[in-house]
Amino acid sequence: MNLELAIKKASLTLKNHNIVSHELDAQILLSNIMGIEREFLITNNQINISEKIKKKYEIAIERRVKREPIAYIIGKKEFWSESFKVNQSTLIPRPETELLIYKVINFFRNKKISILDIGTGTGCILLSILKELSSSRGLGIDISAKAIEIAKINSNNLNLSSRAKFKVFDLNKFNTGKYDLIVSNPPYIPSGDIRNLSKDITNYEPLAALNGGSDGLDLIIKVIYKSDHLLKREGLLALEIGHNQYQRVSSILKRNGYREMTKVYDYKRNVRCIIGTKIKFFKSKK
Ligand SMILES: C[S@@+](CC[C@H](N)C(=O)[O-])C[C@H]1O[C@@H](n2cnc3c(N)ncnc32)[C@H](O)[C@@H]1O
Repeated sequence: MNLELAIKKASLTLKNHNIVSHELDAQILLSNIMGIEREFLITNNQINISEKIKKKYEIAIERRVKREPIAYIIGKKEFWSESFKVNQSTLIPRPETELLIYKVINFFRNKKISILDIGTGTGCILLSILKELSSSRGLGIDISAKAIEIAKINSNNLNLSSRAKFKVFDLNKFNTGKYDLIVSNPPYIPSGDIRNLSKDITNYEPLAALNGGSDGLDLIIKVIYKSDHLLKREGLLALEIGHNQYQRVSSILKRNGYREMTKVYDYKRNVRCIIGTKIKFFKSKK
């Protein structure tokens, strides 16, 4: 069987299972198995594939039919122009998180800062910032030991191990150091909304990376409280938030002595990231 036919067949199978991105998915999966660029695959589509590749391809397509996200099947996801290893212990990095990276690096360009990434997952936020701020250092913490294993592998792959450290920590028990920048993309989906997410997410991505408690704000509030004594004077707190959480998070920040410096909208005009600085230092109250 040649590449063209293999892709056509696979794409049709995915289409019959209501997978909207069927053609692209079929191409990505085959190019990944063959270790070639997707463009090569398309332009050389008369090449025959071996039985071994065919078998592997069938298994990958079967996984996609069951709604497993492409990133988990191929074990990686592109983020901030780098390839990050992912598995089912880590959230798949999302494009909207790149909005936060973009803002933060503009604040600190050419500066040497210390960074704390709370709920680091694959390490994608901390590692992408460190790629841009080449004199800076950072620590990523996560409650999941398996996620921290992946973050360390990503750090090694990106040659950042000397400037990025990763530790297993529950945010509630973390009290070490002072930071110029605290970043976090905490779990922020209200518990009751989780069952309405697509099966690709609920059946595969870790619940601990999604569940933000009854109103989705549990972890966001904890990060804000914690930052009270972890942030240096004039340090920044940058938070990714859910699409309808801006008003509530903004007023929690104000009540806790922060001045909002800027916010970032996604393409649907929802605020998805808030950046604040501490102006009053007192013990946080809810
Ligand atoms: C939404 S994911 C973000 C992952 C990654 N930073 C990203 O942007 O792709 C939230 C992460 O917070 C972690 N987490 C949840 N509860 C935590 C806690 N109490 N302390 C530390 N990390 C926690 C989860 O394991 C998960 O990796």
